[in-house]
Amino acid sequence: MKYDFESVISRKNTGSEKWNSMYKKYKNIPDDIVPLSVADMEFKNPPEIGEALGEYFKNSVMGYTEPQDSYYNAVISWFKRRHNWNIEKEWILDYPGVVPALYHIVNCFTEKDEGVIIFTPVYYPFYSAIKSGGRNIVECPLVENNGEYKINFEDFENKAKDSKNTLCIICNPHNPVGRVWTVEELKKIGDICIKNNIKIVSDEIHNDIIMPGYNHTVFASISEEFQKNSIICTAPSKIFNTAGLMTSNIIISDYETRKKLYKYRMNNGVFGCNMAGYKACEVAYNKCEEWLSQFINVIDRNRIFVENFIRENIPEIKVSRLEGTYLMWLDCRQLGMDYIKLEKFMIEKALLFNDEGYIFGEGGKGFERINIACPLSVLSQAMERLKKALDSIKK
Ligand SMILES: Cc1ncc(COP(=O)(O)O)c(C=O)c1O
Repeated sequence: MKYDFESVISRKNTGSEKWNSMYKKYKNIPDDIVPLSVADMEFKNPPEIGEALGEYFKNSVMGYTEPQDSYYNAVISWFKRRHNWNIEKEWILDYPGVVPALYHIVNCFTEKDEGVIIFTPVYYPFYSAIKSGGRNIVECPLVENNGEYKINFEDFENKAKDSKNTLCIICNPHNPVGRVWTVEELKKIGDICIKNNIKIVSDEIHNDIIMPGYNHTVFASISEEFQKNSIICTAPSKIFNTAGLMTSNIIISDYETRKKLYKYRMNNGVFGCNMAGYKACEVAYNKCEEWLSQFINVIDRNRIFVENFIRENIPEIKVSRLEGTYLMWLDCRQLGMDYIKLEKFMIEKALLFNDEGYIFGEGGKGFERINIACPLSVLSQAMERLKKALDSIKK
């Protein structure tokens, strides 16, 4: 393999949010424990990004910086090449993160007391974005059957018919359940939204981390009508581990929608991203495809390892099939602990710092989300600790 996905890198005392939150939970954690929570990677970035940034900063004046044509061209070309979606420069609105964009979108396109539909359990900032301006969270719980999650379209259609509900946010691929929604599912969602005058926001931040055998479809690429009725949230940050550079691209084809969000962004003091983020995005999209394909193979290998380990050693835990993202979803409800005890067990007995399922909503209680973007040795030790801790409480 050309790139290094096996070195274990300590991020202790580096400012890593993921590592800091582990130490907050448990001060005296041994040095060899790596957290499996927050969605960034325990891998070195593609070296092309660091090298290009080094050169760039050596020769730059670091004043206020706007994206240049080379930036827009990299984004346009990425979506054409990898997603068969033709976009135009004017459609791209840069934002310092998808989450800040979600807050703005909710508050810009809905009124107080209107409802925003989400499919739950889901990435927790969806809830906070909706609540931030006093909008109502309208949950459509996903239906779980033996680890497989589906949308309850009857429930969705009923909620969509309520004229108080004016926006729907989907997560594709879905964090935390790992689904990559099929074209048929997306068409059904889109048709219901159009029939009921509901705007769609599709958070596609994980769009390039798709496991072999699955295909990601950009929601807006399905039809002109869907494109006009949607806002697509994208970023290189999950794909190339550049979340610390806070640069994302919100892609909107409809002129009025775009103008409204642009105005809202400016009126709320957000004027764009930063020169490092622009440069990194450009380099990632132009030069790091080979790294990405190796990364996907590593994630698929790690996925298979976890599935096999759990099946052979801890059959009480049910693993949802990972179709996309690097976040696996483990159903621990048969371990016989409530979700509070489960969290305590994971931290204190297994020394595992996962994301607890309950943070993703009611339907996540009793589940654990584990981040498998780490060296296999880290994952293997984590699984062994889990098995040992469970064996010890069985005795
Ligand atoms: C679905 C989803 N959207 C957004 C984000 C974060 O976006 P940003 O860091 O660009 O604010 C994450 C991070 O895990 C995510 O999983």
